[in-house]
Amino acid sequence: MPGLVIVGAQWGDEGKGKVVDLLAEQADAVIRFQGGNNAGHTIVLGEKTYKFHLIPSGILYPGKLCVIGNGVVVDLRVLSEEIDGLRRRGIDLSGLRISANAHLIMPYHLLLDEAGEAKLGRREIGTTKRGIGPCYADKAARLGIRLQDVLDEKILKQKITAALEPKRQTLREFTKDPRLDLHQMTEEYTAFGHRLEPYIADTPPIAWNALDQGRLVVFEGAQGTLLDIDHGTYPFVTSSNPVAGAACVGAGVGPKAIDHVWGIAKAYSTRVGAGPFPSELHDGLGERLRTAGAEFGTTTGRARRCGWLDVVALRYAVRVNGLTALVITKLDVLTGIDPLRVAVGYVGPEGASFTDFPYHQSVLHTARGETIELPGWQEDISGVREIADLPEAARGYLDFIEEQLGIPVVMVGVGPGRDEIIWTEAAQQLTVTC
Ligand code: GDP
Ligand code: IMO
Ligand code: MG
Repeated sequence: MPGLVIVGAQWGDEGKGKVVDLLAEQADAVIRFQGGNNAGHTIVLGEKTYKFHLIPSGILYPGKLCVIGNGVVVDLRVLSEEIDGLRRRGIDLSGLRISANAHLIMPYHLLLDEAGEAKLGRREIGTTKRGIGPCYADKAARLGIRLQDVLDEKILKQKITAALEPKRQTLREFTKDPRLDLHQMTEEYTAFGHRLEPYIADTPPIAWNALDQGRLVVFEGAQGTLLDIDHGTYPFVTSSNPVAGAACVGAGVGPKAIDHVWGIAKAYSTRVGAGPFPSELHDGLGERLRTAGAEFGTTTGRARRCGWLDVVALRYAVRVNGLTALVITKLDVLTGIDPLRVAVGYVGPEGASFTDFPYHQSVLHTARGETIELPGWQEDISGVREIADLPEAARGYLDFIEEQLGIPVVMVGVGPGRDEIIWTEAAQQLTVTC
């Protein structure tokens, strides 16, 4: 019963969407387990580009069971638009299922996200302003609206009223805002209920049944390990748990359902928004990575901060997620940069050295990557489909990563396209044996 969790091993945007799309072909179901439309997962299919914010990255295979799990927070306006957009492009959505227990991002969550960031001013987190934090806060406060609530207008109205009550003070400046009109909101969300009813389901049994039959189930993570609310660079994190353990909670399966945990990492590092980033490059090389890697956010269009690969952070991701393998994406972006550098340690304030990811915020904020040099390569690698055909320096780079992390690299991205990937035997075996 192969349950495979796909998680971001860095700060998000590692290329999870592309990898999930590739693995989905052999899977019975793909299940998103956390986050919301702060995520932006890109899949390039020939001339066509698809950007998913909520719908799992398996939907391009007709009829594939694609589940938005209970751990996801759903903005029904965004979901509705995403459904319409895919329908217009002729995508079959018959396999889409949305957990009735998923919490909804409501219009007031967007206002609260905006207001929260404005209040922080210079110290802002740089959120995507999609209402993620306020929605998860309401979930924890037991004031959340769940998808099942939109199926009953009376219950919905009661729950919105209860949710708005404690926010009166914070939302005072918006009291006349039509977005907060109770009747309008109830009407709009009840209409969503009617529209989405065919997709609403009790979703954990989908995973249980597929796993019972020994079929592959892919649990799709969003964001990345260093954005995890417990294990990331708090408070510069998202408000959910992107780490592998959350797949169980966010999809409704037990830990024994997970057989493999693959971390997705770029061949270098990026981060969007504020917060510590020890291997960040502030010079022309950072700019070069941004241009070569097209490092602009899928969701907000913001320029991503770029830096060297950081094995301190990756070693931490291996432990926190229990990674069994690694997928390295965007190796092609490093072509022509010679020499390359990789952060293997951090130097903290007062010159202290760290080989483990520091837990303390003050250390993390001032830590700088201690890098070593590795040889680069000049050859175009986008057409390479076997590890053995990579230039020697590129193979050396991958060997170095494996050696530092103690886990195998099972797939390597050499371009954005679906076919621009190197499958190793281990990756092929996993998908073939299911
Ligand atoms: P996700 O959020 O982890 O799914 O990643 P995003 O889709 O936000 O960002 C990854 C970007 O890199 C997308 O534009 C992908 O099309 C692109 N991409 C993925 N893998 C590769 C690769 O191996 N090489 C190159 N050049 N681009 C890639
Ligand atoms: P995918 O799934 C990169 C970042 C935001 C911000 C912080 C908190 O595409 O990898 P939030 O809106 O979640 O409260 O913002 O988290 N962030 C992401 N960065 N990729 C993502 O998703 C992200 N989702 C959130 O930029 O720094
Ligand atoms: Mg993304």
